Amino acid sequence: MAVLITGGTGYIGSHTVAELSAEGVDVVIADNFFNSKPKTLDILREITGREIKFHEADVGDKAALEKIFSENDITAVVHFAGYKAVAESVSKPLGYYGNNIRGALALLETMGERGCKSLIFSSSATVYGIPENVPVTEESPLSAINPYGRTKLIIEDMCRDLCNSDDGWSITLLRYFNPVGAHKSGKLREDPNGAPNNLMPVMLKAAAGEIPELGVFGNDYPTPDGTCIRDYIHVVDLAKGHVAALKAMKKGVHAYNLGTGKGYSVLEIIETFKRVTGADLPCKIVPRRAGDAAECWSDPSKAKRELNWEAGFSLEEMCKDAAAAAGLLL
Ligand code: WQD
Repeated sequence: MAVLITGGTGYIGSHTVAELSAEGVDVVIADNFFNSKPKTLDILREITGREIKFHEADVGDKAALEKIFSENDITAVVHFAGYKAVAESVSKPLGYYGNNIRGALALLETMGERGCKSLIFSSSATVYGIPENVPVTEESPLSAINPYGRTKLIIEDMCRDLCNSDDGWSITLLRYFNPVGAHKSGKLREDPNGAPNNLMPVMLKAAAGEIPELGVFGNDYPTPDGTCIRDYIHVVDLAKGHVAALKAMKKGVHAYNLGTGKGYSVLEIIETFKRVTGADLPCKIVPRRAGDAAECWSDPSKAKRELNWEAGFSLEEMCKDAAAAAGLLL
């Protein structure tokens, strides 16, 4: 028996493979390296000390999926594979709908045909759009505001409709807030192909002198220091959330916020990063980024109650682990 991890060489996928393997779960990875690197496979085999089966495949390719299911006894799937850059989704919406929706559809069809009806889906806080109230609960209104977020919402709806049509399915939707940090070994980290969009990888580039400075997207929001507030969560906490979710799988479709329940502003992140790393971090205030919410942070109590999971790493540890993996800790 094995768990199929689509996108398993990506940032969150690879950390989840490491945590599942540590729990003795056999995993099979399917990835096309669109936003990851083959060397991650070697790192995972080294970290886990286990042979990890791998199929280079696009989850939108049903023939490839059928081959994976025919060669492995897949009992559950964790589906990470998908495009995830908000700004890129605005400029290339059809590419995002095509890749993300087609991939999810091919996967769900193949799983159903093979009688594998246990799925954990990598959803996102972006399905809450610009939340009217914080903290955000799983019952907060869903309203994606960009094509990337809409693909997540459409796939969630596909899962809800599927469960309504067939009570044999067990589907868990994990809504991530802002993943940062890296594996303690420093060998797994956020290492996107191409220019990063998210705050932490941009901060790391500024601290490393690879870019002149970090641009802070606006300081005129209605928050204590004027910069946006987010719920940053250590990627290892997030990975452990998937282990907990796998253990708690149950019939029907169930959504959970995976966050810390604490919000930090951009300036607080910058200050914490500089304090724990001793790094110089040149930055300057620049105009707002379209679509940014002033505040978005979670109420993670449902995951604690039903998955017996809660985040444990501090913001300091998130910054320190991210810097260490980027070779920035002196
Ligand atoms: C965080 C804060 C920016 C970069 C997105 C997706 C979400 C999830 C996480 C996938 C914001 C500010 C950022 C920079 C900055 N991804 N910032 N300068 O937008 O909260 O969420 O990534 O699931 O779905 O929507 O994350 O890291 O881009 O931004 O000032 O160079 O940092 O304005 O306030 P975001 P982010």
